[in-house]
Amino acid sequence: MSSSIILLLRVCFVIIFAWAVRARPYTKVFDVRNFGAVGNGKIDCSKAFMKAFEMACAWEGDAMVYIPKGTYYAGLTIFSGEKDRCKFRTLRFQVDGIVKAPTDLVGDSWIKFIYIKRLTIDGGGTFDGQGALAWKLNDCNMNRHCRKLPKSITFDFVAHSTVNRIHSVNSKSVHINVHACRNMKFNSITISAPDDSPNTDGIHIGNSKSISIMSSMIGTGDDCISMSPGSEDIYIANVTCGPGHGISVGSLGGDKDELNVKGVIVRNCTLIGTDNGVRIKTWAKSYPNVVQNVTFEDIFMNSVDKPIFIDQEYCPSGLCDTKHSSNVQIRDVHYRNIWGSSSTKLAVHFVCSRSLPCQNLELKRIFLRYSGKDGPVSSSCTHARGDSFGKQIPASCLK
Ligand SMILES: *[C@@H]1O[C@H](CO)[C@@H](O)[C@H](O)[C@H]1NC(C)=O
Ligand SMILES: *[C@@H]1O[C@H](CO)[C@@H](O)[C@H](O)[C@H]1NC(C)=O
Ligand SMILES: *[C@@H]1O[C@H](CO)[C@@H](O)[C@H](O)[C@H]1NC(C)=O
Repeated sequence: MSSSIILLLRVCFVIIFAWAVRARPYTKVFDVRNFGAVGNGKIDCSKAFMKAFEMACAWEGDAMVYIPKGTYYAGLTIFSGEKDRCKFRTLRFQVDGIVKAPTDLVGDSWIKFIYIKRLTIDGGGTFDGQGALAWKLNDCNMNRHCRKLPKSITFDFVAHSTVNRIHSVNSKSVHINVHACRNMKFNSITISAPDDSPNTDGIHIGNSKSISIMSSMIGTGDDCISMSPGSEDIYIANVTCGPGHGISVGSLGGDKDELNVKGVIVRNCTLIGTDNGVRIKTWAKSYPNVVQNVTFEDIFMNSVDKPIFIDQEYCPSGLCDTKHSSNVQIRDVHYRNIWGSSSTKLAVHFVCSRSLPCQNLELKRIFLRYSGKDGPVSSSCTHARGDSFGKQIPASCLK
């Protein structure tokens, strides 16, 4: 009796075990070297990368494009899953190597991911935009028809995807561009470029929803993170920024029919030596738009020029028409628990629109020191409405 139960259990166990082995996730690997890529830093590997992607795209299961250790030189590379043609269940890009851009590449982007779902990029590899020569040619502050320099890694219409442990260095323009994406997570990203490299935003988001950026280090020549029109439900946490222009919402109001910016949380971040800390910027002469429900909390500023800044007269070229007042409404912006040091006297500066004053700004537990001779630290409010809670430094200018 008991021995037959034991036998039955054994049989069950064997069946379950066999089933578990069969069902074990199995990933088909497409190694770029099998498609002609050579990691010697000389041969252009973009075609090989795209061929590996094509095979992965057609794979009915879990697919992986593998870029092993080595230096891979690559020109414009497009990974497109247009018209839902890809059959994979999930796609992983395992990037262990260094991918290097041509120094003379022009156009909108260098490595482009478009119309892809369930993508994971991982591996700790590096994308080197080799921007140094291109930066010298950037005259976009003065010239509206300036030469288009490519963004390093661009995501367009990408959804339900994750990017982990990727390094981007010396991009010619924006390092990572997120456009028309849904539900993307960026974790442990490292971005670096010199503080005087022009327009090299770290991560630029636009027309995208449910994007998170966590545990990342960004040091670059422009905004560490910028959230342009149509940024919705954005979560930024554990990010260290510097050098750079800080974490910014904007610029807004520059184009007709821009989408709103709403639902932004920036939490537990550190800014070191940046030009701005947390900033919202809109053009003075502008089309209508709205920024609402934005929270900046638990933020440490280390020697930041303008730690808390709303600029509705944004004009980087200095050549703007100043008689206009911004048509962008800013409301429900919360600044909570922000401390550290300001490197200018004006640590809290709200320059809001004359025609559409900022509404419901909140200042709570702000402690910012300034040790220059022209001190003490101060705050300034123009057309800014809201409330402040408790004692703070500088004393609040909100009424
Ligand atoms: C920051 O990172 C730590 C450690 O990885 C994690 O436990 C924590 O939840 C993160 N903080 C936020 C605010 O997301
Ligand atoms: C805040 O961020 C730092 C890294 O920037 C991390 O080590 C720490 O765990 C985070 N704290 C919380 C409460 O999330
Ligand atoms: C504000 O934004 C956060 C983050 O996206 C969201 O969870 C929350 O529901 C929003 N609150 C309002 C009142 O819209």
